[in-house]
Amino acid sequence: MSSEASHSNQSRPQELRQEYEDTTRAAHYRDNRWTRSPRARRTHAKELAIVAAFLKGCEADQGGDALKDLLDVPCGTGRFRSLLQDHASTLVSIDASREMLAAAPGAPQLQASVHQLPLLGRSADFILCSRLLHHFQTSTERAMVLAELARVSRRWIVLSYFDSASVQAWRNRIRGSFRGRFPISRAQFANEIAAAGLRERERRYIQRGWSEQVWVRLEVTV
Ligand SMILES: C[S@@+](CC[C@H](N)C(=O)[O-])C[C@H]1O[C@@H](n2cnc3c(N)ncnc32)[C@H](O)[C@@H]1O
Repeated sequence: MSSEASHSNQSRPQELRQEYEDTTRAAHYRDNRWTRSPRARRTHAKELAIVAAFLKGCEADQGGDALKDLLDVPCGTGRFRSLLQDHASTLVSIDASREMLAAAPGAPQLQASVHQLPLLGRSADFILCSRLLHHFQTSTERAMVLAELARVSRRWIVLSYFDSASVQAWRNRIRGSFRGRFPISRAQFANEIAAAGLRERERRYIQRGWSEQVWVRLEVTV
């Protein structure tokens, strides 16, 4: 299993954790991030719809059997909580930031890094990993996250990443704007999930061709 201690030379993951360890930022994320503009509200609604469709897709693929043990990591301030609870016997919410967890108490919560989840192997039917992968710059950093999710999942992982073949990604490249977000190609993503023992079952878009954020439903193959 990956551990942060064994990769302590990688500063970006640590920097990222620090960014969210902030009371004001956590309150902003909970109260404004997804309501501050019509676009933010549309994106949030679309993401909820995508995750809802993926949950149904997983249940259909298991012959209508309900999902049982769900994990939301990073859970942030819990914007998917009630949707996930509708599909779970148990939901565990994990985030590295104490402030993000404290901003939205409820559901069993744990403070931990996605790099070293305090859970047994194969302990979740379904893992949601929303809006995290694009923060990691290197294939090595993403591989650590994917391997840890694949270790803990019995079957399903739903996650988002940034697609380099999108107008938003091209625009940021042309403008040279560096925002600590790292788009990758579909081929690169395919290689990285395959190396982690995962295969893609379905993908959905917030706005196909435009949005950087792409959503995928992955299945554990090993
Ligand atoms: C953009 S927010 C996304 C939150 C939530 N998934 C959502 O979509 O609303 C990124 C979250 O990742 C968390 N985070 C950053 N690094 C992490 C790590 N190594 N392990 C677990 N959570 C981490 C932050 O604390 C923050 O809550």
